[in-house]
Amino acid sequence: MSTITEAPDAALLAAVRTAPKAELHLHLEGTLEPEMAFALAQRHGVALRWPDAQALRAAYAFDDLQAFLDLYYAGCDVLRSADDFFELAWAYCRRAAADGVVRAEVFIDPQSHTARGVDFAVFMPALARAAQRARDELDLSVDYIVCALRHLSEDDALAMLEASRPWAEHYIGVGLDSSERGHPPGKFTRLFARAGELGLRRVAHAGEEGPAAYVAEALDALGVERIDHGVRALDDAAVLERLARERVPLTVCPLSNVRLRVYPDMAAHRLPELLRAGIVATVHSDDPAYFGGYVNDNYTALFEAHPQLGADDAYRLLRNGLQASFAPTAQVERWIARLDAHWRRCGYALPA
Ligand code: ADE
Ligand code: ZN
Repeated sequence: MSTITEAPDAALLAAVRTAPKAELHLHLEGTLEPEMAFALAQRHGVALRWPDAQALRAAYAFDDLQAFLDLYYAGCDVLRSADDFFELAWAYCRRAAADGVVRAEVFIDPQSHTARGVDFAVFMPALARAAQRARDELDLSVDYIVCALRHLSEDDALAMLEASRPWAEHYIGVGLDSSERGHPPGKFTRLFARAGELGLRRVAHAGEEGPAAYVAEALDALGVERIDHGVRALDDAAVLERLARERVPLTVCPLSNVRLRVYPDMAAHRLPELLRAGIVATVHSDDPAYFGGYVNDNYTALFEAHPQLGADDAYRLLRNGLQASFAPTAQVERWIARLDAHWRRCGYALPA
């Protein structure tokens, strides 16, 4: 007798992959696929260290965050003209829409461009044009968040924020990224106070490689509304309990955490524990060109490695992502209604 049965979670994964979802932790510069890096290098007559895209992709084996960042900043060097930035952002938007993304809050690292003489006037209007096209043609809502590089000084970050002001209509918030160890959130207190004065949304990477104390510090010293990564909060019961009580979303990036060796493999990823602890966890892709997958690949890898995660967990993660977005409340409610209808159509009950 031959029985052709689907793997038990195949239907669930299909439901997740086609669900409307939010991408809240995505670095635009981390979407630079090797093929595009080579095309742009050729456009600008820049020599890359690798013979071809395949060799570059093969170099994406990282021991830690810093090893990745060294390559990531080197990759930025091919981004020079407005067309480059438009093409990068538009390619990402099309890829995201194919994954069911209806809302993307996209990080950009202005200092990685301005330090090379590529000004806001070059990249910001181009990125805004891609976002507008995504709204018009893909029904994808895109906003940008300008991030400060924490390995640089706070004065540098403040100068970046002031330089960005002529393009204020094109971004909604300020974030904090780059090398976490040795660069605590408290180093950027004045930057985030200024962002608050300007009415900007605030987020920060914390508890990726750095300790749980950095998560609490980001909340206390910077007033952030979401924590990017935050998985190291699991090391401190008091921090974890606070995150759950205050319903602070953690934008978790499973493939990134494995590629950067925060966890040895996906089975060791502790996202299920975050859910069990009542944390508002969400799933995202961080730097998909470097870490082997976009948002649906992250969901798939996570659920395949953790068969104990079920339909209620999947729904919760999808809903958390939409709910944690900075889009207007009425819009978020429409997306959640779409998610609910999709979930029921796929044969799943909505969790109580
Ligand atoms: N910049 C791009 N990706 C990052 C990450 N995962 N952590 C810190 N800074 C980053
Ligand atoms: Zn990140």
